[in-house]
Amino acid sequence: MRSPKKIVCLGAGYVGGPTMVVMASHNPNIEFYVTDQNVARIEAWNSDALPVFEPGLDAIVKKVRDKNLFFRTIEPSLLEAADIVFVCVGTPTKEYGEGKGMAADLQFTELAVRDIEKYCKSGTIIVEKSTVPVRTAEAILNIVNTQQKGKNFDVLSNPEFLAEGTAIQDLQNPDRVLIGHAETESAKKSAEVIKALYTAWINPEKVLLTNVWSSELSKLVANAFLAQRVSSINSISALCEKTNASVSQISLALGKDARIGPRFLEASVGFGGSCFKKDILNLVYIARQHGLLEVADYWQSVIDMNDYQTRRFVSQVIETQFNSVSGKKIAILGFAFKGDTNDTRESPAIYVCKRLIEEKARLFIHDVKALENAKKDLSGIDKTVTYTTDIEEATDGAHALVILTPWREYEELDYAQIFSRMAKPAFVFDGRRIVDAQKLFGMGYNVKQIGIQPLMHF
Ligand SMILES: NC(=O)c1ccc[n+]([C@@H]2O[C@H](COP(=O)([O-])OP(=O)(O)OC[C@H]3O[C@@H](n4cnc5c(N)ncnc54)[C@H](O)[C@@H]3O)[C@@H](O)[C@H]2O)c1
Repeated sequence: MRSPKKIVCLGAGYVGGPTMVVMASHNPNIEFYVTDQNVARIEAWNSDALPVFEPGLDAIVKKVRDKNLFFRTIEPSLLEAADIVFVCVGTPTKEYGEGKGMAADLQFTELAVRDIEKYCKSGTIIVEKSTVPVRTAEAILNIVNTQQKGKNFDVLSNPEFLAEGTAIQDLQNPDRVLIGHAETESAKKSAEVIKALYTAWINPEKVLLTNVWSSELSKLVANAFLAQRVSSINSISALCEKTNASVSQISLALGKDARIGPRFLEASVGFGGSCFKKDILNLVYIARQHGLLEVADYWQSVIDMNDYQTRRFVSQVIETQFNSVSGKKIAILGFAFKGDTNDTRESPAIYVCKRLIEEKARLFIHDVKALENAKKDLSGIDKTVTYTTDIEEATDGAHALVILTPWREYEELDYAQIFSRMAKPAFVFDGRRIVDAQKLFGMGYNVKQIGIQPLMHF
């Protein structure tokens, strides 16, 4: 193919938006159209209040928007003109029928691909960026290349490895870019076209060309490995709480081992986010489908350990409140599934808050960026919930502070001040290990922090 002139991205979410923004900033001679059928989302991308919060995103959007990057609701003419289409639609866990609760729901992928087949010219390169089950590209090829309209498409796999909260940093300087392609001459050339988009700013040595199936499966396995580290250290945090070992000291000692490395060894209330659980469930489902039951059980245990950790945490809150939180004010500090994002999908905060609401607690939920999503997550069950961006309103008169998101703001709070205005005995439940437990204990708090023995004044 000649150099591409127009690129369309289907899906203006947490992946499609930031990925195309960064790619457009490094490829100023190509026009990028980030599209979605969700009109409100596109309007938000075209406003000053972007629908995705990521450090550094606003500044790059301002540089490229309406220059060589355009946010548009999807329409056929955009696809007709596209040389390359990136498919960045959601692939959530299926909520119905065969594979319910486990398999990836590919309905959005299929609809997107049918639009591509219908409107795109022959030769348009289709790039699967969504996380999909291994061999999805084959299914896509079957849809696009069997319609007997004389059109031919290459389908490449180019999974995205960005992490929310550090998306811009990850996109500017990725550990690697993976491009999976078929062994045909045409597909190899298409892979080179996609590679050139990336080498506009990334060292070519970081771009790995693989077969399509390895590329698709690598993404699922990468998420499974990362989540497995979190579950492994979380399992040890429970043991630390019983034995007076400290999980952070263990993480430090393990992380110094070059074979293990320091990252993803932070114990917490549990991992969340739209990807880890869904992708592992999908991996488990695929393994089961292939009759690999031991493999499936192994990866299932990573999710089971995560669920156990979150359940264990909320049980501790309730037990420590003399087995009743009914009518008590509890300050929830953080609802996003991690810091520096407004995303709350699969956040442990959802489960923790639902359990505390069931137990009739009065929740005051504070978050730096995610309150709008929190409201959606708890809608219909939040009669006893107050959402606030005011720390004093959240904490005044509270029986307990429950820290669920590692926002930097929570590390810097004046905990002595807060203590003076709380109901007594006052408790801190630190699900993210961000406070100095000994210091807060010294102020008079009873402190339950993941991974150390409780510090109680009674
Ligand atoms: N969020 C992450 O951190 C992350 C990281 C890596 C990979 N992924 C993967 O990337 C994919 C997208 O994730 P996301 O977090 O951006 O999802 P998202 O839900 O934020 O965005 C998906 C968007 O696609 C739109 N859409 C659906 N069908 C469409 C169509 N036919 N045409 C145009 N738009 C359409 C939806 O309206 C939605 O706005 C998923 O497969 C996910 O697993 C996500």
